[in-house]
Amino acid sequence: MKEFKKEYLTTNQGEPVNDDQNSLTVGERGSTLLQDIVFLEKLAHFDRERIPERVVHAKGAGAHGYFKVYKSMAPYTKAKFLQDPSKETPVFIRFSVVIGSKGVADTVRDVRGFAVKFYTEEGNYDIVGNNLPVFFIRDAIQFPDLIHALKPDPVSNIPGDSSQNPRFWDFMSLTPEATHMLTWLFSDLGTIKSYRFMQGFGVNTYKWVNKDGKAMLIKYHWKPVLGVQSIDSKESKRLAGLDPDIASRDLFNTLACGNTVEYELLVQMMDLEDENKQCFDPLDATKTWPEDQFPLIPVGRMVLNKNPENFFAEVEQSAFCPAAIVPGIEFSNDKLLQGRIFSYGDTQRYRLGANYLELPINRPKVPVNNNQQDGFMQFTPNRGSINYSPNTLGCGMPEPAPENGVPYTPFVEGKIERKKISKTDDYTQAGDRYRSMSKIDKDHLISNIVESLCYAEKHTQKKMIEHFMSADKELGSRIAKGLGF
Ligand code: HEM
Repeated sequence: MKEFKKEYLTTNQGEPVNDDQNSLTVGERGSTLLQDIVFLEKLAHFDRERIPERVVHAKGAGAHGYFKVYKSMAPYTKAKFLQDPSKETPVFIRFSVVIGSKGVADTVRDVRGFAVKFYTEEGNYDIVGNNLPVFFIRDAIQFPDLIHALKPDPVSNIPGDSSQNPRFWDFMSLTPEATHMLTWLFSDLGTIKSYRFMQGFGVNTYKWVNKDGKAMLIKYHWKPVLGVQSIDSKESKRLAGLDPDIASRDLFNTLACGNTVEYELLVQMMDLEDENKQCFDPLDATKTWPEDQFPLIPVGRMVLNKNPENFFAEVEQSAFCPAAIVPGIEFSNDKLLQGRIFSYGDTQRYRLGANYLELPINRPKVPVNNNQQDGFMQFTPNRGSINYSPNTLGCGMPEPAPENGVPYTPFVEGKIERKKISKTDDYTQAGDRYRSMSKIDKDHLISNIVESLCYAEKHTQKKMIEHFMSADKELGSRIAKGLGF
């Protein structure tokens, strides 16, 4: 039997407690006394155990590990963690299910989150990605509408999962740019039972900048070393009833047994001069970049090797953010990404409090030096009396960090306007994807869509058939036939 160190029960103030199982009462049958501080503290703390769940990606599973580059990426980026193949950068990853609340089954049809935090020597860098390479919308201002349409009905609170939700299809029918994403979501890649066999994609376009100040556009891909596996809709429903936590358990048990889980990081690169030469808009998150023109370049390997010690402290309180970047990595003008830069830190200040970056799981492994102070739950030491800049009394500290290499200072100009991008091309890639699928994958895509779209209003079904028809005549006709048109 495991040996335990002797420990005496205390309150949170450290006062020894000799009984926390019987309330302090007047006589053995009560009433209970207000002065029962053991009782009051125990109940009051319990009453505050829950924090707001994430507004999306509420259910997740996390793991620790490390990342190593295969060779220096110096020609493309000056990011220090991407320079030295002998260096291990610690990482924390959180996989998640997007739409359902915390109790959702792991196998339901949905997008999965694939968020990686690199604790680099230049601060934390987060790649906050998904398991599908594109997204439903291309402008962040539509995100709250998208999520409202996918989350439970605000009247009935029926958690309309995407398979029986007319509101989902209503929104999609009026969002032609979602057609491409739907060909991914309703394929078998939308139902998975193991995170170990799942790809990840940055989806948005970022920039890498080297020491000479030269930038290029890049897109991230994660490939599971074990290969990609998914399950079909029937199996996903069976497992949702039988073993709703199958993906979380699979990850936890694999690591608990001492095995590792590994993924390769790859990037696609595009020269800035080529950005406007494509027939599609490369900064549009509803598009992939063709791999024959922009080949996948292997960058390095991530090895997951340790479970969190406490789910709440590490997984629930982890805060990933596309705005967490390091020198050598920049944002592109991708309008979805630009909104994401704001949203994550904002929701985390609400979900976890102003000092959420002081929590051990979120805290960089390098010193944090600035004059920000106070706020709820501030617990790292302040900088002493000199909490302002410029100053002489503190020898001017903290001083501005030196620029590493030539600064990247892009020039932009344009009219200020609210406008769709001109190269929308909502259907070509959706059709290409359908045509590239095997017979069985096409059959599953169509039956999965029909199985779900049959719950939508007739006018919505007609509109969706038009979209699928515009992508590919066969795809549209087979869906129409399946719906009885
Ligand atoms: C404008 C579009 C988007 C907005 C406004 C948005 C916003 C959010 C918000 C508010 C959260 C909750 C964060 C938290 O409470 O810690 C979240 C989580 C997440 N989002 Fe997005 N999101 C957007 C698009 C995307 C896209 C395109 C991806 C994938 C590339 C993505 C991946 C994730 C992931 C993986 C998480 C969970 C992170 C974790 O595990 O804690 N999101 N998003």
